[in-house]
Amino acid sequence: MIKSPKKPAKKNDHWADLEERLQKANSSEEIEVIEQEIFGRKHGALTVEMKHLQEASAAEKAERGRALNEKKKFFTSLLDEKRMALKNKSLHALAESDRLDVTIDVPAKERGHLHPIPEFIREVEDVFGRMGFDVARGPEVESEEYNFNLLNIPADHPARDSQDTFWLKRETETTDPNKKFVLRTHTSPVQVRYMKSHKPPFRFICPGKVYRKDADATHSPMFHQFEGMMIGKDITLANMKAVMITAIRELISPKAEFRFRTGFFPFVEPGLEVDMRWQGEDTASREGKWLEVVGCGMVHPKVLQNCGIDPQEWQGFAFGFGVERMIMIRNQIPDLRSFYTGDLRFLRQF
Ligand code: PHE
Repeated sequence: MIKSPKKPAKKNDHWADLEERLQKANSSEEIEVIEQEIFGRKHGALTVEMKHLQEASAAEKAERGRALNEKKKFFTSLLDEKRMALKNKSLHALAESDRLDVTIDVPAKERGHLHPIPEFIREVEDVFGRMGFDVARGPEVESEEYNFNLLNIPADHPARDSQDTFWLKRETETTDPNKKFVLRTHTSPVQVRYMKSHKPPFRFICPGKVYRKDADATHSPMFHQFEGMMIGKDITLANMKAVMITAIRELISPKAEFRFRTGFFPFVEPGLEVDMRWQGEDTASREGKWLEVVGCGMVHPKVLQNCGIDPQEWQGFAFGFGVERMIMIRNQIPDLRSFYTGDLRFLRQF
């Protein structure tokens, strides 16, 4: 082969160029392209030169063969090196981007919790659920018929005065008690709804909001009650007392102090009230005093009749608890209004 000064330079340039490109290559795709250019089975630079070697003389063959072998070794190892470096680099990058410093001191996340009222209602559902009581719900806007009349509280009844009522505007347009609406003053209308839609025997509770025009430390215009009712063939006042005592001990404390006394509600006969003893150093004025928390009694035969249940065959009891008052007693909260102001200093104590 004639060695013109130009040709080898060009050749050298070509190898040098390949080497330079390989050194700079930054991805396995680039490396692969260059590998093809060198080792490709048909057009690879080294492959082509190997083929040309066949045509050379024996002496030339030996020399050029050695040179080509050097190149082969050189590029093979350079390729390996490049691949390894690239792999390490990507592992490094991954380690860096996925880095997790378990020693960093992150402030603990504050976990939220339910407001004490829904929280207490859940407990109520749980305690009564274990005594076999179903859970019912009813609307907060009720007809006069359901909120009063069917519960044996006619329009002229003095008991209406004790439940100072929010009437809805429609009041002026009609005298039909089915079309006059109130914000329910108690959860007792759910008794009516349940009796009208279920066949006895049954027992259920109904937690919910009620509304009265009242506002002081133990009264709020909106508060929560839960109603309860148990109807069967031989349900007596003794069963009622047992259920009341179990509920108070489980919901407030096994040591809770309470007393039964007679009370009047037109929809029960006899009627009773349960008072609980207030305990708490921070409210000297109430210390040792009794706070009414439950109204209850044997369901009035007229009410059973009004709701399609034969009082000759069925009897039972009903009760209504004041939710806020029970929590106040249990947690010694002096002012009922604390429940509604959204003050986190208060809410965080629960
Ligand atoms: N509904 C009565 C009230 O709100 C409570 C009550 C319920 C009394 C059931 C007796 C029976 O005051």
